[in-house]
Amino acid sequence: MKPLDLDFIRAQFPAYQNEETAGWAYMENAGGSLVPSQVTDKLIHFYTKTKVQPYSGYGPSDQAGEAMDRSHRLLAEAINAQPEEISFGPSTTQNTYVMAQAIAEELKPGDEIIVTNQDHEANIGAWRRLENRGATIREWQVDRQTGLLDPENLYPLLNDKTKLVCFTHCSNIAATINPVKAIAKAAHEVDAKVVVDAVSYAPHCLADVKQLDVDFYLFSLYKTYGPHLGLIYGKQEHMHNIANQGHFFNQDYLGKRLTPAGPNHAEIGCAGGIVDYFTDVYQHHFGDTNGSVRTQVDAIFNLFGQHEQTLMEPLLACLNTKQHVKVVGLPVADHERRAPTIAFYSNKMKSADIAQALIDAKIGPGQSHFYAYRLIDNLGIDTDDGVVRLSLVHYNSAEDVERAVAVLDTIL
Ligand SMILES: Cc1ncc(COP(=O)(O)O)c(C=O)c1O
Repeated sequence: MKPLDLDFIRAQFPAYQNEETAGWAYMENAGGSLVPSQVTDKLIHFYTKTKVQPYSGYGPSDQAGEAMDRSHRLLAEAINAQPEEISFGPSTTQNTYVMAQAIAEELKPGDEIIVTNQDHEANIGAWRRLENRGATIREWQVDRQTGLLDPENLYPLLNDKTKLVCFTHCSNIAATINPVKAIAKAAHEVDAKVVVDAVSYAPHCLADVKQLDVDFYLFSLYKTYGPHLGLIYGKQEHMHNIANQGHFFNQDYLGKRLTPAGPNHAEIGCAGGIVDYFTDVYQHHFGDTNGSVRTQVDAIFNLFGQHEQTLMEPLLACLNTKQHVKVVGLPVADHERRAPTIAFYSNKMKSADIAQALIDAKIGPGQSHFYAYRLIDNLGIDTDDGVVRLSLVHYNSAEDVERAVAVLDTIL
């Protein structure tokens, strides 16, 4: 397989083009990614040339609407969905909140909802609150040593009262990839639907939602090289049936049923730039623009995956040699099994101090419970100090990782 051309990749990102920002090793990408110029150029264009009410039948207004429709189309193609199956909301947390309001309208006494204690609170709290509306909540629990979910512990929880199974494609802390397709199949056997949080997975692999056969699939574009929006995929048949949360007269527009507020036009307008970036990466590496968007996305995420694997190998190798350090999730550098989101803690040193040492070396880490509070708590980690997280993506370099390893080798 071709190697990823990192010079080309970095040339797409304005953050790497000026001295002030280029010197940092960006390693808190699971919190928010950098944005390529394919996106920023479109945002500036929208604000400077078409920032009027879209779809009003005249020049700039029509262009604004076309940019928004184009983003719908491209992002739908990228995950192998139909445009009407995707909606944009302000964030994944807000999107799950609205979805929970919709599901609440359908609840019958005795209905059960399964949540995990591995997820970010965004895909737990909204569902747990439905207990007040009559739902019974069941918890699929992590192994308290590893932080991992075993599907064998889920299957006994499934029964004919199960309405939803809400879980993460890959945790923002444990980062190990859950077998989404198998879990969806098991849920469907009891007529339950799955709500999958793909926020931590999508930056490393944009999945084919039809191949996974998921019912609802959510991720945040601001962590996937785009603007600050959350994307909801909902299978067409479910979107027809879900209780409309928008204005009553808009109920036939599937894309409005789960987004009650007016969307951020400019951000939707530039979101298609994410796919333009993927297409440019594809063209640069494979020399053509043939094939569907979906084919291109598959090809470039293979490249990203190989590169990300070479990044996590030295980092995990370093951490695995430290007796007092524990990596959460699988401590194995295998991009088929885990994302390169490496969260760890030490029994000897505070996570805050480790993070500060990294910052002093111009490395941007994360340190927190990262709203996966229940996971951190169940692992017996101090929730105030949390874990250190070094979350890598395809634009990180071997040199970024070497710098981090040098600091960690000195202080740990
Ligand atoms: C795994 C995961 N799920 C959900 C969320 C919430 O996303 P948003 O910030 O778009 O609400 C986050 C945010 O960090 C996350 O990491």
